[in-house]
Amino acid sequence: MFQKNFIWGTATSAYQIEGATQEDGKGKHIWDVFTKEEGRIYEGHTGEIACDHYHRFRDDVKIMKELGLNGYRFSIDWSRVLPMGTGKVNERGILFYSELVDELLKSGIEPYITLYHWELPYELYKMGGFMNKDIVEWFGEYAGLISERFSDRVTHFFTLNEPQCFIGLGYLNGEHAPGLKAPIQDTFLMAHNALKAHGRAVQMLRQKAKQQIWVGYAPTGAMSYPKTKKPEDIEAARQHLFSMQEISNWTWNVAWWSDPVLLGHYPEEGLKLYERYLPKITDEDMKLISQPIDMYGQNIYNGKCIYMGKNGKPEEVKRYEGFPTTAAGWPVTPECLYWGPRFLQERYHMPIYITENGVSCRDVISLDKKVHDFDRINFLQRYLKEMERAISDGVDIRGYFQWSLLDNFEWNQGYSQRFGLIYVDYESQNRIWKDSAYWYQNLIKKRCCD
Ligand code: NOJ
Repeated sequence: MFQKNFIWGTATSAYQIEGATQEDGKGKHIWDVFTKEEGRIYEGHTGEIACDHYHRFRDDVKIMKELGLNGYRFSIDWSRVLPMGTGKVNERGILFYSELVDELLKSGIEPYITLYHWELPYELYKMGGFMNKDIVEWFGEYAGLISERFSDRVTHFFTLNEPQCFIGLGYLNGEHAPGLKAPIQDTFLMAHNALKAHGRAVQMLRQKAKQQIWVGYAPTGAMSYPKTKKPEDIEAARQHLFSMQEISNWTWNVAWWSDPVLLGHYPEEGLKLYERYLPKITDEDMKLISQPIDMYGQNIYNGKCIYMGKNGKPEEVKRYEGFPTTAAGWPVTPECLYWGPRFLQERYHMPIYITENGVSCRDVISLDKKVHDFDRINFLQRYLKEMERAISDGVDIRGYFQWSLLDNFEWNQGYSQRFGLIYVDYESQNRIWKDSAYWYQNLIKKRCCD
């Protein structure tokens, strides 16, 4: 049984659901441009209309209310409120988010704002984006604006969503906007600048806050879980989660992205391993990056099964043929929602929010006009039981944001992946409750996932 004050939410992001990319004075961001480039996105899809949430947000909040949510994590499109990235504020953009916030509060739903879910204003990209050290102040200015305008009503803010992805996929393998394959030195510099921008945003959010606020960070990464309950396997899984891996994988490492923020330094092992690629890192940088935060968000989708090898090093269990996977081909590993938060709490000693977890399925509308997504129910139930076990073993998890409220634009995979509790018929924009939505509604009501 979950506590009464546990936050049951869903999560979304601006470009993935809003649409209205050219309305009301919004500026361009890197995804607006990237999606127009040939061959970048599955079948040339774009977020121009997406779920048309910009026009339908009141109906969408109604759905959230009916689901019984008491939290909703959404992101603000930087280029909607600051079309050039800095300087002149677009009041119509502010108004949209302001009305959304009011609607949520009226419905008893706590807003959790993410500042950066990948919509880098194109004007700033043209000036070097994350390569330019000024990104720290640009992001700080934006964070200050959001705090100034929203902290009278919103008390929870996350700075960056999945820096691993926007750096790793955006600048290293080029699958995400802006689609570069930058030299590895540059990506380390961008990663460092992104962390500094996070720190500056924490300062600015607090500086402009109108009341006490809670500030967090929302990275991702593959979790690890032990093959058995033997102490040596548990230790192997822990080591595996935080140790630096192959160079091609540095962007996914949890410690590289979270130790600086929470412990004030990069992992020693990584500093040695990547020495020749690293920018100059000063004590002042580390002080900025490790501004105290109040909550730790982690997006958790899957993990690797680890045991202690004969040589005393963590080894990965090879997945058997036919291992269950989601429609996106990701392994189904519920244990990661027990061991991930547990290891993170042991290392960082922070209240934890699962800022994302969910599954894409091959959802279809049946003859009875309903969507029977048993796979999603099965996934959520198994994962949430693990999360419940973590909480009862003392892990301080305060909330869970299911990804996602609606089917939406899944980046370079366009609309081919459906992650929603609510099915979106993109032709009519009709919303259809999937069976999993009813299941989630019931879970929230009963506070129990059996
Ligand atoms: C991670 C990202 O934050 C989100 O934008 C994405 O849609 C989901 N996970 C699913 O891939």
